[in-house]
Amino acid sequence: MPAAMLPYACVLVLLGARTAEAAGTVRAGRLHWEPHCQQPLPHRAPVTALLPPRLEGPWTSTGCEVRPGPEFLTRFYTFYRPHLFRAHQFYYADPSCREPAHSLLIKGKLRLRRASWVTRGATEADYQLHKVGVVFHSRRALLQLARRLNQTRAGRACARQLPPARAWLPGALYELLSARAERDCTAALGFSMHELSLVRVQRHLQPQPRARPQLVEELYLGDIHTERAERRHYRPTGYQRPLQSALHHARPCPACGLIARSDEHHPPVLPPPVALPLRLGGRWVSPGCEVRPAVLFLTRLFTFHGHNRSWEGYYHHFSDPACQQPTFTIYAAGHYTRGTPSAKVRGATDLVFQVTRAHVTPMDQVTTAMLSFSEPSSCGGPGAWSLGTERDVTATNGCLPLGIRLPHVEYELFKMEQDPLGQSLLFIGQRPTDGSSPDTPQKRPTSYQAPLVLCDAEARDFSRPPPPRPQLQKPLSGGGPCRRGATLPFLLLVLGLAFLERL
Ligand SMILES: *[C@@H]1O[C@H](CO)[C@@H](O)[C@H](O)[C@H]1NC(C)=O
Ligand SMILES: *[C@@H]1O[C@H](CO)[C@@H](O)[C@H](O)[C@H]1NC(C)=O
Repeated sequence: MPAAMLPYACVLVLLGARTAEAAGTVRAGRLHWEPHCQQPLPHRAPVTALLPPRLEGPWTSTGCEVRPGPEFLTRFYTFYRPHLFRAHQFYYADPSCREPAHSLLIKGKLRLRRASWVTRGATEADYQLHKVGVVFHSRRALLQLARRLNQTRAGRACARQLPPARAWLPGALYELLSARAERDCTAALGFSMHELSLVRVQRHLQPQPRARPQLVEELYLGDIHTERAERRHYRPTGYQRPLQSALHHARPCPACGLIARSDEHHPPVLPPPVALPLRLGGRWVSPGCEVRPAVLFLTRLFTFHGHNRSWEGYYHHFSDPACQQPTFTIYAAGHYTRGTPSAKVRGATDLVFQVTRAHVTPMDQVTTAMLSFSEPSSCGGPGAWSLGTERDVTATNGCLPLGIRLPHVEYELFKMEQDPLGQSLLFIGQRPTDGSSPDTPQKRPTSYQAPLVLCDAEARDFSRPPPPRPQLQKPLSGGGPCRRGATLPFLLLVLGLAFLERL
C-alpha cells in the first residue's frame, strides 16, 4: 500500500439512523412500514464520520460479542492522549457473557496513519503492544488456556510460565507479553490486536421520546479473520460491531454501564438476553450501510415466508461508504430448511439455504458496460443490458461476471434476539473472510454479522392468524417495530447470505 498521506480536512456526512417520522405513516389507524422496508437508506438522520477519528476516551461493547470459534467476549478500550491505549477483553464460557473465563489487559501505543486506500472511509493505524496480561476467573479457564498453549512448541514454553491449575490464584495477573522483557506468548495463543489497524469513528443523534436527541459515538475497529490460523497475519478490510463511547452511547444500553465499570479483576456479567424463538416470517432490513471485507458496500432487504419456507432478498450494492452511489442490485430467491439447534454455538440454529433464482439490475454506467461486454451465455443470455433495467439471470445459472452461480447452497447459522428497546434482531452467520462461501457443513459459520432489523412482521402471512407475539415484544409508547428501529445505533454490517463470490 502506498504510504502517501491524504489530507485530513473534510468531515464526511453519511446517512445512517432513520428519523422516526420518516419510517412509517398511519393509514386508517394502522401503521404501514413499507417505505422503510423498501428503501432502507433514504430519510435517515445524518451520520457523521470524524476524519481524522478522535479516539480519546472510554469505549465499550454494547452487548455480548461472538467471534469465530466461537469465542464470547466483551471489550472495554480506553485511548489516552497522545497515543496510548489500555484495552480490556473479557472472555466468557457462555454465549450470553454471564460466566467469565479469563480477562486480558492490553496496553500499548496507537498511531493513526492515513486514510485507507482499501476501505473507503476508514483510517489505517499502527500499533505496538507494551504489555498483555491475563487473569483467570476459574481453574477451568486456566486449564483451557494452558491446553491451547500446549498445542505448539512455542506455546509449551509459555504454558510452563502459568501456574499448574491446582495452584490457581483468583486475582493473579500473569504476563503474556512484555515489550521490555522481550517476552511474547501472544503468538502462541493466536492473539493479535490487528483490529486496531483499521479505525473509523462515527457520530449520530439518537431521537429520544420526549427529550432532546442524544449524541451517539461509535468506534469501528477492524474485523477478525474467520480462520483462527489466519488471524495473526490478516490485515482487516472490514469492521467488527462497533464499540460505543462510554459517555455517548445509544440508550438504553444495560451492558455499556456494566462494562465501563469493570476491570480485569471484576469482569462484567451481562444481564440475561431476551432470546426469541427463530421466527423468520417477515421482512428484515439492514439498519445502515454495510461494509464487508474485500470491500463491498451494500444494504440488504430479506423477506422470509415461514409457511412455505421460501425467501427472497435484495442486495443493493454501492461504490461508497455512505451507500449513496448505486452500482448494481441483485434479487435472489429460493428455499430454506427447517432449523435444527446448533451443536457448536449454544442458542443458535442451523439452517440450509438454497438460491435458485436471481435477477440483476445494473445501476451505473460501469456495471452496465461490463455486463454488455460479457459473454451473453455467462450472464442473462442474448439481449441488451441497460442502466436501471432488471434482467433474469436464472437461465444462465447466474451471472459469472458478478460471481453469481446458481443453484447455490449455503450452510447457515441464525439467531434472533431482542434489543433493550424491544426490537427484533436477526443475526446471520459471518461470511468466511477469504471470500469463499459456506457451501459445505464444515464451513458453517460459528459467529455472526451485525443484525438485521425486523421492519414488517405483519407481512409474514396474511392468510393465517398472526402467531402470538413473544411476551416481551410490547411496543414502546407510540411506535411499531420500525419506530423502535429508529433508535438503533447505526451499524456497519457485512454481507449475509452471500452467494456472491467476487472474481
Ligand atoms: C502440556 O504438555 C506437557 C507435556 O508435553 C504436560 O506435562 C502438561 O500436563 C500439559 N499441560 C496441559 C495443561 O495440558
Ligand atoms: C410462498 O408464499 C408467499 C406468500 O405467502 C408467496 O408470495 C411465495 O411465492 C411462495 N413461495 C413459493 C416458492 O411458493
